[in-house]
Amino acid sequence: MRKTLRALTGALALTTAAFAAAPASADGEVNIYSYRQPFLIEPLLEAFTAETGIKTNVVFASKGLGERIAAEGKNSPADVLLTVDIGRLDGAKQLGITQPVVSETVTANIPDHFRDPDGNWIGLTTRARIVYASRDRVDQDTITYEDLADPKWKGRLCTRSGQHDYTIGLIASMIAHHGVEETEEWLAKVRDNLARKPAGNDRAQAQAIYAGECDIALGNTYYMGLMETNDKEPEQQEWAKSVRILFPNADGRGSHVNLSGVVLTKHAPNKDNAIRLIEFLTSEEAQRLYAETNFEYPVTPGVPVAERVQSWGELKADTLPLAEIAKQRKAASELVDKVGFDDGPAS
Ligand SMILES: [Fe+2]
Repeated sequence: MRKTLRALTGALALTTAAFAAAPASADGEVNIYSYRQPFLIEPLLEAFTAETGIKTNVVFASKGLGERIAAEGKNSPADVLLTVDIGRLDGAKQLGITQPVVSETVTANIPDHFRDPDGNWIGLTTRARIVYASRDRVDQDTITYEDLADPKWKGRLCTRSGQHDYTIGLIASMIAHHGVEETEEWLAKVRDNLARKPAGNDRAQAQAIYAGECDIALGNTYYMGLMETNDKEPEQQEWAKSVRILFPNADGRGSHVNLSGVVLTKHAPNKDNAIRLIEFLTSEEAQRLYAETNFEYPVTPGVPVAERVQSWGELKADTLPLAEIAKQRKAASELVDKVGFDDGPAS
């Protein structure tokens, strides 16, 4: 049986003894540090244990897990780290806490551009950075990221912070496609179109459109599904209803996509079980669960997207390798500061 050791909301310390105290099972176990939320990964881990008999131990946190694995060093109980965004996946590699996953199953299941060339991170799902457009105040059915710089959007655009991983990923992809200089010009114009200082999460941008504070916003695809189906906070369903989804650059290179993924830790004490878990997460069964539970796009070819996601229209994904985007993240972050993006529109 899988046992959640402790749910953490911050970078709380949890001693390695907690893992040692968990009773060993005949088929062994695997220790997981996860930024991904319990509602999402619990069904996956239950299926994994049912199939393999391998017990899973999980520590959840919203930040600090990579640093914690680094600090724990050789004594770290962590076998794998589950996280989102190429920034954090590549960041784990840069921290030196990963080792290559050598697995024919993984290589066969995951396309090249969703894997680190050296195998130090493996993409498990994708999500597109799309435009939420007001149903009432935006007529057009197509848009490009480049169009966001058009003065016609002045005072009408909302987004979360320029320094958030999701925004950095998009800006990094713009640099990869257009170079730093052109991207700087673009970003300054986008800043001038902002309705307000960048603030809040992706859902807050849909809320701002609902409230009439702006007409278009940047957000990830799956938040639309999470808002549309939110029975706990039904007002989110109203936010979602107030916007349409536009897939940017659908007629060109495709929409920017980012990843959730997994790394195998450098000192994984249960390495074989960790690789079995990673292989399982790339399987059709696990990929379907990701698609249905969190409205993400499966990365294993042939696994269908959820019906709800399908209803949003076809995603044409930019096939720029995520590793190329990772290389431009630092330059993207510097541009955000240079143009004062998070200061909001110039008066
Ligand atoms: Fe997210």
